[in-house]
Amino acid sequence: MTPIKECLINKSTKINPIWLMRQAGRYLPEFREIRKKNPNFIELCLNPHLSEEITLQPIKRFNFDAAIIFSDILMVPYGMGQSVEFKKNLGPNLGNFRITDIQKTTENDFKNNLLPIYKLLSNLKKSKDLNNKDLIGFVGAPWTLLVYMLNKISPKNGLPDNFLKDKILIEEILKSLDTFIKIHIENQINAGATIIQIFDSWAGLIKKDFDRFLYNPTLSLVNHVKKLGVPVICFPRGISDYVKFSKLVKPSMINIDYNVDAENIVKSLDIPIQGGLDPKLLLTDKEILKRETNKYLETFKDHPYVFNLGHGILPETKVEMVYELIEIVRGYK
Ligand code: CP3
Repeated sequence: MTPIKECLINKSTKINPIWLMRQAGRYLPEFREIRKKNPNFIELCLNPHLSEEITLQPIKRFNFDAAIIFSDILMVPYGMGQSVEFKKNLGPNLGNFRITDIQKTTENDFKNNLLPIYKLLSNLKKSKDLNNKDLIGFVGAPWTLLVYMLNKISPKNGLPDNFLKDKILIEEILKSLDTFIKIHIENQINAGATIIQIFDSWAGLIKKDFDRFLYNPTLSLVNHVKKLGVPVICFPRGISDYVKFSKLVKPSMINIDYNVDAENIVKSLDIPIQGGLDPKLLLTDKEILKRETNKYLETFKDHPYVFNLGHGILPETKVEMVYELIEIVRGYK
């Protein structure tokens, strides 16, 4: 059984499994090397050969317990026919769309648009580097994808006041998202994903109607993944009540962010927990990193716990600090 699967059957393990969100990314010189020659991010995500190499880069270097496919949550809007570009200093930039065009997109169109991602998974499945490791597929949650589809860029400075004004349009988008995200989940599992993680990176921006935007749409996906026989990890970043979320949505494992009080959550939840450490701690020094990492390991020592961060690893992280982190986690007794 893989180390993460062992946690998932609700066993606390002697050594905590570890992988990091955004483990395949810009902090790795070998990633930057490929990226320099491939300025179009979407094309890179749709190149199964290069995305396989990138997915395996952190595995070869650090021997993490899981690989997460090199892809992006915005590949779902892309597959639905919305244009998606990544611009330097801006990040994602989506185009205009007509809801009727999205509604005309068939399952087959969608699948054809994203075929290289499924090819990537089936190629990775054969890789010897992934022996006894999980292969994580992922999707964005409906709320976070709705935010990107309508706002067109990352809502780093919040959302405009009238963001939710067109109720009918929003319902229609959420409906399409539920359909296509489920298709994307199913295709990833059929191609070889052994775990699905649902990223709701902007869940913290939901101020009201939590049932409509957070609990119900996520529960619908969670039930779908479970029905397919695969564990599902939820990461509703920035919400104020992870306990309520976990009790209502019942994911196989919950990923906490770095604002969550670890001591409190461990007492309140009986499902496996993942993550928490502030990625900014990897920018400090080894002493601080050790102290803060040990706090998580200590707090979760009798609870099924997969070590990870409270958000993606930052591009300016030194590789040396990642080696240090792994040593701390695997050396903890
Ligand atoms: O290693 C991994 O974790 C797997 C690959 C992965 C990427 N994006 C690759 C990527 C995963 C799991 C994602 C998820 C994703 N994408 C999220 C959810 C997690 C989170 O960070 O909150 C979100 C919100 C996105 C959307 C997105 N993609 C943004 C906002 C950006 C630009 C900002 C940034 O961090 O660069 C991306 C680009 C992106 N996705 C990069 C990578 C490695 C950087 C691309 C580059 O080289 O410029």
